[in-house]
Amino acid sequence: MIPEKLAKAMNEQIKNEMESAYIYLSMAAYFHAQSLDGMAHWMRCQAHEETIHAMKFMDHLVDRNMTVKLLDLAQLKTQWKTPLEAWQDAYAHEQFITSKINDLTSIAREVRDYQSEPMLAWFTNEQIEEEATTNKISGEMEMVGDSKTALLMLDRELGGRAFPVGSPFDPTAYAQAT
Ligand code: FEO
Repeated sequence: MIPEKLAKAMNEQIKNEMESAYIYLSMAAYFHAQSLDGMAHWMRCQAHEETIHAMKFMDHLVDRNMTVKLLDLAQLKTQWKTPLEAWQDAYAHEQFITSKINDLTSIAREVRDYQSEPMLAWFTNEQIEEEATTNKISGEMEMVGDSKTALLMLDRELGGRAFPVGSPFDPTAYAQAT
């Protein structure tokens, strides 16, 4: 069992992670509409990763004999003025998620649930990478400025991110599955 205060916060974190997936999928749709398919691909990979994060919380609750109650997802932003703004939003969103992981770690210590600490430490490390990556790409987008050539080069580079095998966010994977 997990103390109720922590279990409730973890249940809410499943929603935060699923909303992350949905936000990044929304950004993928925006990038597709801008003919930036490499950036859309990167966001689809990211959406996949976020669903794994949600499942880590769900399975931790299940393993600890807690009942999971999935919550409503919030209304999303679906339009951005520029590709740069979308990347800046991605970075801001990761900072928000880091603050949520910090809150969870504080609660786990407050209620002395040491069994949750290894999993939360994994997320603490993961957030370093999540923030670093989105911040780096935001910075590169600022350098791109008005250069369409540089934008296309960065789009190509981001399109090289690898999908986990069989990801439902990967069009070639679901084409083989059906
Ligand atoms: Fe699940 Fe991007 O943090």
